[in-house]
Amino acid sequence: MAKFISVQDAIKKKKGKVAIRGWVYRERGSSKFKFIVLRDSTNIIQCVIKKEKVGDKKFAIADKIQVETSMEIQGTIKEDKRAPTGYEIVVDDFTVVGESHEYPIQKDQSIEFLADNRHLWLRSRKMTAVMKIRSTIMQAFREHYLKKEYFEFSPPIFQPTQCEGGSTLFPVKYFDAEVYLSQSGQLYSEAMIFALEKIFLISPTFRAEKSKTSRHLTEFWMAEMEAMWMDLDGLADDIEELLTFIVKKVLKERKEELKILKRDIKPLQKIKPPFPRITYDKALKILKEKCKMKVEWGKDLRTIEEDKLSELYDKPIIITRYPKDIMAFYKPKDPKNPKVALCLDVIAPEKYGEIVGGSQRDLDIEEMKKALKKMGENPKNYEWYLDSRKFGSAMHSGHGMGVERVVSWICGLENIKDSIPFPRTMLRWKP
Ligand code: 4AD
Ligand code: MG
Repeated sequence: MAKFISVQDAIKKKKGKVAIRGWVYRERGSSKFKFIVLRDSTNIIQCVIKKEKVGDKKFAIADKIQVETSMEIQGTIKEDKRAPTGYEIVVDDFTVVGESHEYPIQKDQSIEFLADNRHLWLRSRKMTAVMKIRSTIMQAFREHYLKKEYFEFSPPIFQPTQCEGGSTLFPVKYFDAEVYLSQSGQLYSEAMIFALEKIFLISPTFRAEKSKTSRHLTEFWMAEMEAMWMDLDGLADDIEELLTFIVKKVLKERKEELKILKRDIKPLQKIKPPFPRITYDKALKILKEKCKMKVEWGKDLRTIEEDKLSELYDKPIIITRYPKDIMAFYKPKDPKNPKVALCLDVIAPEKYGEIVGGSQRDLDIEEMKKALKKMGENPKNYEWYLDSRKFGSAMHSGHGMGVERVVSWICGLENIKDSIPFPRTMLRWKP
């Protein structure tokens, strides 16, 4: 039996006998030759099957090979400047493992068609490159926190209450009760750090977003952290280090994929500390003076305002201290200015919007109950959460990074849907 190696390893070998296996990415033939570009998870390579070499009977099989046939190929690899990846395999022998019927995906198909055939479109070079970068980003997130001796934590996904506002909750029938799909693992993280002190988590989160923007999914992955004894400045320092590390790792390990995506890497090479840190008040001032945009104090920043700000800087912007009244119930008042909260949002460069949201956590039970009641929530349902403030309460902070937002930014994607294998939006929940 031949010992199979990856396409990438075959190319690295440069010459001699090789055995590879994968799927037909492209095919064309004549009466004497059949050219096949074979792909595996590592790369693509041109292979040529010659009638004079494999004989009439085998050539007749080769002649019928269609795109996406799975096959094994044995032959001799050599340099060939005309081939797509600079090398070609002259085939000694091949085996068709699984035939392919007429592959529906061809050139220039509509976005809708590709979405309906997402399970197949994932095999494209574009999607393969994005998914590899996504994997590297998640890996980098883990590495960053493991280096700092954080523990990985797993939150529940069925949750009895909200965390980020009632309007985007997904209710689920839970036997005779009703629960919600997680909007964030945060409230549970806050309970866990009283034992583990420093934790990180990567988990699916759900929001019934009615907006059909290029930045919103209804199911997305959030990479979060929560740390005891940390204040807002410590949190901003950590996020700055985290994002720098993620970008650096992708630039180092995913050069080829960034090239396939035609991502201009110059803006990514500029991602180094320090990041600009401005308050919400300062952001309003900048918008007014430099962009002629007037935002009424107390209103959240909208996409157009975030985009305008992102054009002024070539690094992520850390905006702190938003108006307390429009923030989630767990974000505390700034003791120096009770109108604002000790919180932050990070806005990506190049108009990719908010990539991280975080805050110091409120320790004042009465304040939180007041905020919950204002939203129409019954504080009784949050008693388990408020318990952490009764038994040895102490300062802590945390953040959540939108994995898909970061993938979109780093890959330079036009739409967030391409940052996740099977996107879920208001109008799309299949396949
Ligand atoms: O700012 P958010 O709502 O923060 C939280 O949920 C906190 N509880 C996290 C924490 O402190 N542990 O969400 C965090 C991030 C956003 O900054 C954004 O990047 C992303 O999640 N996000 C979305 N990504 C895709 N589709 C959506 N509908 C998103 N909503 C938020
Ligand atoms: Mg937010």
